[in-house]
Amino acid sequence: MATTAAPALRFTRVPHPAPATAQVRAEVLANPGFGTKFSDHMVSIEWTEAEGWHKAEILPYGPIALDPAAAVLHYAQEIFEGLKAYRLADGGIALFRPEANAARFNASARRLAMAEIPEDLFVQAVEQLVLTDADWFPTVEGGSLYLRPFMFASEAFLGVRPAKAYRFMVIASPAGNYFKSGSPAVSIWVSDYTRAAPGGTGAAKCGGNYAASLVPTAEAFARGHDQVLFLDAAEHKWIEELGGMNLFFAFDDGSILTPPLSGTILPGITRESLIALAREEGLTVREERYSLDQWRADAASGKLVETFACGTAAVVTPVGKVADHNGEFVIGSGGPGQLTQKLRQRLVSIQRGEAEDTHGWVRKI
Ligand code: COI
Repeated sequence: MATTAAPALRFTRVPHPAPATAQVRAEVLANPGFGTKFSDHMVSIEWTEAEGWHKAEILPYGPIALDPAAAVLHYAQEIFEGLKAYRLADGGIALFRPEANAARFNASARRLAMAEIPEDLFVQAVEQLVLTDADWFPTVEGGSLYLRPFMFASEAFLGVRPAKAYRFMVIASPAGNYFKSGSPAVSIWVSDYTRAAPGGTGAAKCGGNYAASLVPTAEAFARGHDQVLFLDAAEHKWIEELGGMNLFFAFDDGSILTPPLSGTILPGITRESLIALAREEGLTVREERYSLDQWRADAASGKLVETFACGTAAVVTPVGKVADHNGEFVIGSGGPGQLTQKLRQRLVSIQRGEAEDTHGWVRKI
C-alpha cells in the first residue's frame, strides 16, 4: 500500500495525570526483567486512506479502545519492531540503528499489505517517547530502554482485504536480561513444528509468526529448555532461526557461519551488525545453509567451537546445549566461548558509546 508523503506532523502531548512515583520507578529500574514493566507514556499515530498519517500523540500509557470488528483481531494484520535506547557514559541517550528498524518495519508493512510509515516519522516517534520518558532507564548493569513500535489494522470491517485504517504506536519498557535464568549459556530444543515456509511471511516481523512459535516454545520450556529452534519447512533439515533470534556458528578454522536470508528467517539488525564486526575482526563470515546433522557432527568432532544467538532483546547469547528426539549434544564447554564474548563486547561497547562508532550506527538524541 502506498506511503503518504511525510507530513510535517506535530506531536500533541498529554502528560500522564498520575505518573509512577519515584519509589515505584526506582524499584522497576533496579530490577527491570524483560517486557513486563512500561514507562509512563506511549506514542500513537493514525493512518487512513483519506487523511494519510495524522493525529500524532504522546499519551499516558494505558489501555486503548478498539472496535471489536477491527481487522487486526480477525485477520492478524499486525507488525512490530524491537530496538533499544542506551544511556551513554556522558549522560546522553542514543538509539542503535533506528533507521534500519524503520526500513525493516516498512518491509514488513509491504508483506502484510499495510500502510508504510515515512522512516523519519518512525524514528521521530521513537525519539519523542524516549525523550518524554528519559527517566525510565534501568540502573542495572547492561540495562536499556527497550522500544516496541508496532502497527495494527484498526478499520472495523470483516471482509478479507487490506484494511483502510491503521494505528502505529510505540511503547517503552525498561529492560535487563531477556533470559530469566541468567544462565551463562542457553539450552535449545529443536522443534518438530515449522515456523515459516518459502513464500510465506517468515521474513516479516509480524505477530502471526510469533503466534505460530508459541506451541513449540511452550514445548521447549516444558522440556526444560530456554528457546526453540526451527528447521526449514521443506526438508526439516536446515537450521533456520530460534523463536526470536538469529544463530551464528563458530569453527576451529576461525570462520563463522550464519543461515542465509532465504525469505523464511528474520533479517536481524543485530545479525547484520555482527557480520560486519566479525569481518573487521578478520573472521571469514559465510552466509550458508547448515544442517542439524552437520551441527551435531561438528560439535562432536570439535570442529564447531561456539554457537550463539543474537537479537535486539537477546543481544549476543551463547548456546550451550541442543536437544531433539535423538538426544542432546553440548557445544564446546557448554558455557560462553571466547569469540561470543568478544563479539558481544564489541557490539555492546559501540551501542553504549564506549567504542568508536565507525559505521554511523549510533544515533544520539
Ligand atoms: C527483539 O529482539 O527485539 C525481538 O523482537 C525478539 C523477541 C523479544 C520477540
